[in-house]
Amino acid sequence: MSDKISVLYTEDEVNARIRELGEQISRDYAGKSIHLIGILKGATFFTCELAKRITIPVTMDFMSVSSYGDSTESSGVVKINKDLDDPIEGREVLVVEDIVDTGNTLSYLLDNLQKRGSSSVKLCALLDKPERRIKDVKVDYTGFVIPDAFVVGYGLDYAQKYRNLPYVGIVEPGME
Ligand code: IMP
Ligand code: MG
Repeated sequence: MSDKISVLYTEDEVNARIRELGEQISRDYAGKSIHLIGILKGATFFTCELAKRITIPVTMDFMSVSSYGDSTESSGVVKINKDLDDPIEGREVLVVEDIVDTGNTLSYLLDNLQKRGSSSVKLCALLDKPERRIKDVKVDYTGFVIPDAFVVGYGLDYAQKYRNLPYVGIVEPGME
């Protein structure tokens, strides 16, 4: 059984866009330092690449969340599997996520983080699927706006596979 994956954004295109995001973030937060919160596991690749392109001082933490219910549709009930290691009080927080789909996960998470006394909480997502949105989420920095398709690679998985692909692709499931 093999899945067919067609390239949506090549490795060069993704990296070029991340470079631009890093420059924009460095300009917007000039004179400050920034605390990146990467959302495990999907956003790890993006978080690391982005961090390398930010020229102001950076600290990093990671959080793991999952939504109850079946695995392909998020339910809106979010569980924190791994919380932050460090407090975020007084910090300029930038949440780094792989993709915003229904918005259920981020809407809960941003709400939760906003109650912890940080100076600011903003969101940077590599991919945004606005057509699928159920909960309103403000994405402050977006890599690419994509149509309603299931994508993998650059950290994104299909049944835990394909996270390691260096590009973003659309998966067409193979026949079992
Ligand atoms: P949301 O709560 O519906 O916005 O779901 C966000 C999470 O669903 C992301 O962090 C991903 O883990 C997963 N997800 C949504 N769309 C895709 C996709 O196209 N490919 C892989 N994972 C996805
Ligand atoms: Mg995720």
